[in-house]
Amino acid sequence: MDWKYALSEPDLGEPEIAAVVDCVSSGWLSMGPRARAFETAFAEMHGVKHAFAVANGTAALHIALAALGVGARPGDEVIQPSMTFVAGANMTRVVGAKPVFADIVSLSEPTIDPADLERRITANTRAIIVMHYGGYACRMEEIVAIAAAHSIPIIEDACHAPGQKVPELGGRFLGGIGDIGCFSFFSNKNMTCGEGGMVVTDDDGLAELFKALRSHGMTTLSWDRHQGRATTYDVTVSGFNYRLDDLRAALASAQLAKLPGLNAKRRVLAVAYADAFAALGVPDTAYVFGDKPGAGTAHVGAVVVPAAKRDAVRAGLAEQRIQTSLHYPPVHHFTAFKDPEAASTSLTVSEEFAQRVITLPLYPSLPLEAVPEIAGAIARGLRD
Ligand SMILES: Cc1ncc(COP(=O)(O)O)c(C=O)c1O
Repeated sequence: MDWKYALSEPDLGEPEIAAVVDCVSSGWLSMGPRARAFETAFAEMHGVKHAFAVANGTAALHIALAALGVGARPGDEVIQPSMTFVAGANMTRVVGAKPVFADIVSLSEPTIDPADLERRITANTRAIIVMHYGGYACRMEEIVAIAAAHSIPIIEDACHAPGQKVPELGGRFLGGIGDIGCFSFFSNKNMTCGEGGMVVTDDDGLAELFKALRSHGMTTLSWDRHQGRATTYDVTVSGFNYRLDDLRAALASAQLAKLPGLNAKRRVLAVAYADAFAALGVPDTAYVFGDKPGAGTAHVGAVVVPAAKRDAVRAGLAEQRIQTSLHYPPVHHFTAFKDPEAASTSLTVSEEFAQRVITLPLYPSLPLEAVPEIAGAIARGLRD
């Protein structure tokens, strides 16, 4: 499709090309010095002690749950939002546990509701996954207090949120507040290397496990042996091959250096969207996180419109070659997750959000003039 405004576009150029060429020229492609350098820079930027580069964000979530021993006991449960990408729920199932879905706070703040989360805690709850929708912080102070009171670890799905400092949380970065943070570098993300991820923690014990689980449970990498630092290896746990290769790590490092600037450009666009929708004053229509559009990474530009008009508005935008999407179809609606015991009415805000949300083009190189154009097209679509 020849979009005038695509939903997202990566920001790639000479630094990324040079980094990849340099890696190819070095003759070492698999996990090695470039992956290590990327991890060090990522940990430093996010103020965390340990960062392990992995194959993708889903692998990061899988390793996080496995390292916590989730699924080891029959009946283990993981509380998480339904209004998110399916990876967390899938990995919960893959480790042998049950996802328990909690509702979101509101239509303007579609992150997990701490009160609903607390209501769903049982003796079987082994972990909480929170997701910083659009790169805007969940209510972490409340969630950290609830989790501490029940001794339940927190996994932050920070796939939307690389490079986001939160002043209210002591200047810590999203992904570095809970016990474990997971990031994705898929091609639509704020920084990308095509496919890639990172799992971070301050806990030395978890870090040892992440390192082992990422690479078959082996005690050394091929790179260590190539360097003459080891001649053989032991296997200490049964793990996966979730390594990130140096080619992607080189590309990711170039993106990481640009991340603060890329996030800043996105925030300007998010503020412009919020202003544009506020100025239009269309009834029952509001930009999501419209009261604080500059306070997140603006990974997703979302608007809620009246449910009855949503699909027609999207069709109208597509006719004008403006791509939109839905973040997200709620996980509990998917065939694989339909749970006859869980009344869908108990996720009422997620249900309403899912019927009303439209996600709009938002990426660093989107021209600022596109924002009033897109908002105006939505307003016209709602009047038709
Ligand atoms: C919120 C969220 N969680 C998890 C993932 C999974 O990441 P990946 O696609 O890198 O496996 C994604 C991205 O696709 C995401 O947006």
